[in-house]
Amino acid sequence: MSDSQLVLFLLPSILSLVLIFILMQRKQARYNLPPGNMGWPFLGETIGYLKPYTAISVGEFMENHIARYGKIYRSNLFGEPTIVSADAGLNRFILQNEGRLFECSYPRSIGGILGKWSMLVQVGDMHRDMRIISLNFLSHARLRTHLLKEVEKHTLLVLGSWKENSVFSAQDEAKKFTFNLMAKNIMSLDPGKPETEQLKKEYVTFMKGVVSAPLNFPGTPYRKALKSRSTILKFIEEKMKERIVRMEEGVENLEEDDLLGWVLKHSNLSTEQILDLILSLLFAGHETSSVAIALAIYFLEGCPSAIQQLQEEHTEIARAKKQSGEVELNWDDYKKMEFTQCVINETLRLGNVVRFLHRKALKDVRYRGYDIPCGWKVLPVIAAVHLDSTLFDQPQHFNPWRWQNSSNTRGSSSNNYASMTPSSNHFLPFGGGPRLCAGSELAKLEMAVFIHHLVLNYRWELAENDQAFAFPFVDFPKGLPIIVKRHSTHYP
Ligand code: HEM
Ligand SMILES: *[C@@H]1O[C@H](CO)[C@@H](O)[C@H](O)[C@H]1NC(C)=O
Ligand SMILES: *[C@@H]1O[C@H](CO)[C@@H](O)[C@H](O)[C@H]1NC(C)=O
Ligand SMILES: *[C@@H]1O[C@H](CO)[C@@H](O)[C@H](O)[C@H]1NC(C)=O
Repeated sequence: MSDSQLVLFLLPSILSLVLIFILMQRKQARYNLPPGNMGWPFLGETIGYLKPYTAISVGEFMENHIARYGKIYRSNLFGEPTIVSADAGLNRFILQNEGRLFECSYPRSIGGILGKWSMLVQVGDMHRDMRIISLNFLSHARLRTHLLKEVEKHTLLVLGSWKENSVFSAQDEAKKFTFNLMAKNIMSLDPGKPETEQLKKEYVTFMKGVVSAPLNFPGTPYRKALKSRSTILKFIEEKMKERIVRMEEGVENLEEDDLLGWVLKHSNLSTEQILDLILSLLFAGHETSSVAIALAIYFLEGCPSAIQQLQEEHTEIARAKKQSGEVELNWDDYKKMEFTQCVINETLRLGNVVRFLHRKALKDVRYRGYDIPCGWKVLPVIAAVHLDSTLFDQPQHFNPWRWQNSSNTRGSSSNNYASMTPSSNHFLPFGGGPRLCAGSELAKLEMAVFIHHLVLNYRWELAENDQAFAFPFVDFPKGLPIIVKRHSTHYP
């Protein structure tokens, strides 16, 4: 076929695309849409939006768009007309009105890989039922009586394996920690056992696909991940069958106080639903908190005075424990980690593990004079609020002290810091509303306990320059290589 024939052949499709495009623009004229640029038909501005950038910024795309259009703008992303919000008020409004005006709406590829029963893609009653199960598993009571102990055990297991003067990836170590912890508490898998290691390996392939372009062709990461998904599901199903047999035989193993056992006993979910629930909890609980821990290691390395203050706080806790003859951390010890909580908040504010959420409008919604048409995608960019210089003083600066006194002042003091005391209205690292992260308390506990043993036992340096990028999932391209030295003077 010659070029001109090809053009003739394609002409009808091109014309109809253009027509659809014009019709779409016409229809939009009824609305007072936020300003913006819809980019190319179909592709829109997706490529620019997804271009990697340093994690402590909002990225060039976002900066340019906010400068040109303001904090609320329209675009065409992931193949759909979209409202992007970097506005603190609108973000809260969107999250609070989940199920009424807006609804969770992740791209279809996410459902393909996490499963159609995954909590991330479910809405309505099914979401509520699964959320109740997760909240039960992650309840405050269980954190105190059960998970704190587990978190400390798995922290010590990983930190205890660190060798002085050798270079290793801090990000991989953090992943090992959170994976072992979740595998144990979800399915009673023990760290280091062949089956656990095999699952971990399969999971790495799976993860690469979750964050890659959803191109389902032979050889693509997405295709490989779909294969890993079915391998992992088979594995979980085997575990489930074993468990059911044991439960029927009445051999109750007290060691197996895990999510799998709980779901089998207390819910009516089908096998398929349980598999997707377990897979997505493993995903939600493992990827995010390991990145958060790696970010803390990275930010602290560049802030010696914060390490100093952490050491004072944790040495004091360790000293008091030694005096009373206790060894394991308890809830009171955790409550004493006040400055640590500032470090955790600051890490989440600056690092932004989750940058934006996926929603869609269920109705025509009007917000401050702008229309958000029914059916449009809506992306609340929570990271953009955390890095907004009108809300946080020097937002790109790691400053845990900005969180001191944040619970007892409301920005009215003459104090320099307090004049921009962070408000919980502007800080939503775990999302908000009816879909607020179910694991936020566990994530903070993991970070605090890890930091406790880290600063008491080690000094660390970056072995090579590395920094976090937003792809937009946050990742250290070199894995954050560090080199550690053991403290000689400190605890234990
Ligand atoms: C620093 C670590 C973490 C961050 C930044 C984080 C962030 C988030 C965010 C922003 C959402 C809301 C998603 C949306 O609204 O579309 C979410 C949901 C969720 N997270 Fe986390 N998360 C973290 C750790 C964890 C952990 C350790 C678990 C425990 C298993 C967990 C379990 C969940 C679950 C189950 C949901 C779904 C909640 C629902 O839809 O009702 N997360 N997380
Ligand atoms: C499961 O289903 C049975 C019968 O359909 C019902 O009696 C029971 O309450 C249900 N349990 C849960 C946890 O939904
Ligand atoms: C950290 O942020 C949370 C809001 O997510 C807030 O409730 C808490 O008081 C903050 N902690 C500190 C120490 O400022
Ligand atoms: C926090 O408050 C205490 C007294 O309540 C004050 O001494 C301290 O300087 C304040 N810190 C900051 C960072 O504002």
